[in-house]
Amino acid sequence: MSSGVIDLRSDTVTRPTSAMLAAMAAADTGDDVYGEDPTVNALEERVADLLGHQAGLFTVTGSLANVLGVGAWVRPGQELLCEARAHVARAELGAHAAVRGVTTRTWWDVRGRVDLEAIRWMMAPDAGPYLVSTAAITVENTHNFAGGTVQPWEDLQALRTAVDGTGIRLHMDGARIWNAQAATGVDVADYATFFDSVSVCLSKGLGAPVGSVLVGPADAIAEARVWRKRLGGGWRQAGVLAAAGLYALGHHVERLAEDHVNARTIADLIAAADASVVDPDAVETNIVLLDVGDRAERFVAEARAAGVLTGVVGPGVVRLITHLDVSAADARKAGEILATILHARPK
Ligand SMILES: Cc1ncc(COP(=O)(O)O)c(C=O)c1O
Repeated sequence: MSSGVIDLRSDTVTRPTSAMLAAMAAADTGDDVYGEDPTVNALEERVADLLGHQAGLFTVTGSLANVLGVGAWVRPGQELLCEARAHVARAELGAHAAVRGVTTRTWWDVRGRVDLEAIRWMMAPDAGPYLVSTAAITVENTHNFAGGTVQPWEDLQALRTAVDGTGIRLHMDGARIWNAQAATGVDVADYATFFDSVSVCLSKGLGAPVGSVLVGPADAIAEARVWRKRLGGGWRQAGVLAAAGLYALGHHVERLAEDHVNARTIADLIAAADASVVDPDAVETNIVLLDVGDRAERFVAEARAAGVLTGVVGPGVVRLITHLDVSAADARKAGEILATILHARPK
């Protein structure tokens, strides 16, 4: 960052590059509520194609894409199953319940992964008039609050097999699906193939200022388009934003591996100062979780004073995220600063 501050609070803090801004300025636009914005249409088709789904819908946020995706499958009073720290359960401010009448039940996994045994025990596709019926399951890949963990492909395949024939639908929150691809080499389409709908974010690691895309079957996306407008999310010459997304897909996917190396650098430096705080081998992508116990708020304040921005995401848990605006030198400097703070800290 030009201010000298290294911002590791989230990968949403990136600013558009000048090349991205140029692509935005050059965008061909039209009224998207009429379906006439060629750049939005191109983005929706491109993302649907990349993920191997029929159709796409460009939304202002990942939260909206999730609300529309889950809402496509879960009727009011039915339930969604997800991991306890899933973004849909923790960070969408109750939207699924408040807007679509969805009940949510959660399983717990330390790495945020699919727990097939728990899911088999919980899922009740046709619970009759006495209990809530399960209509959908959401899996987050990578899992943000579990530390950027990747869902093993085989687990997703097994989940698909478990729900086949039950009527239960699968939605993937793929806000960071390209990070999963960068970490494992599994193509995003190979992750998406097991899911009825997938939301992806262009505004996280890919560095676009705004935007997500929901993909799925054409009829579900058509219904989601109605709901997007109903919720006030219809937009007009949104091609200027879609152009940023297309630019990001063309230029910022390959480089995600650098963010993963940088996250590992930070974790290594911190572990060298205090191995109880982080296990560098647990860092799979661009997110590092530090377990700093009851000093989390103080640690964040001290880091801020030293020019490194971080955030508390759970009891005693500090999260660091690398991204487009964090260079290898920034990562090293941030790791050294945070290690010094931890080293100086009374145990
Ligand atoms: C896993 C995950 N899903 C969804 C979202 C929602 O994205 P937005 O902030 O665009 O609503 C986020 C945001 O950080 C996220 O981490």
